[in-house]
Amino acid sequence: MSVIRVLFVCLGNICRSPMAEGVFRDKVNKAGLGETIEIDSAGTGAWHIGSPPDKRAQMTTQLNDIDISQQKARQVVKEDFEDFDYILAMDYTNYETLLSKADHHHSNKIQLFLNYSSGKKTIEVPDPYYGGDNNFSHVLNLIDSASQGLLNELQLRLKGSTEDS
Ligand code: 4NP
Repeated sequence: MSVIRVLFVCLGNICRSPMAEGVFRDKVNKAGLGETIEIDSAGTGAWHIGSPPDKRAQMTTQLNDIDISQQKARQVVKEDFEDFDYILAMDYTNYETLLSKADHHHSNKIQLFLNYSSGKKTIEVPDPYYGGDNNFSHVLNLIDSASQGLLNELQLRLKGSTEDS
């Protein structure tokens, strides 16, 4: 079975995308797909390269027993557009930045992450960096919903590929 690679992208890679990486990895592992779906996160900006996730992001995911403390921020690099199958932007600005960096034939890999949310009331994960803890729990809820939708979609895709073979 071929591996599916998912990259979550925000601006700093210290709040939203590390939370998405942690939450989605938890769901993937619980579904027994840890070997089949590879997950990473990155930022469009370079300010926080090498830093662990923001303490508020760590605390919020920890409330759901998800430990993201070992992650280190990195910036999106050109190879990511080759290496990953799904490149999921947290907001429109990240989406536009990714599109502007990608070769034309990779642009179909780039999507807004909340497209996978079943509610779809909100289309962007708002930047929580300048806000309080409430912003982070709101972000976690949005991420949790879209992560579940994404997992459902990938499970369907994987089921299809086993039936084909
Ligand atoms: P993130 O949040 O994109 O969710 O990681 C931010 C983190 C840092 C900054 C902006 C957003 N910053 O301007 O340093």
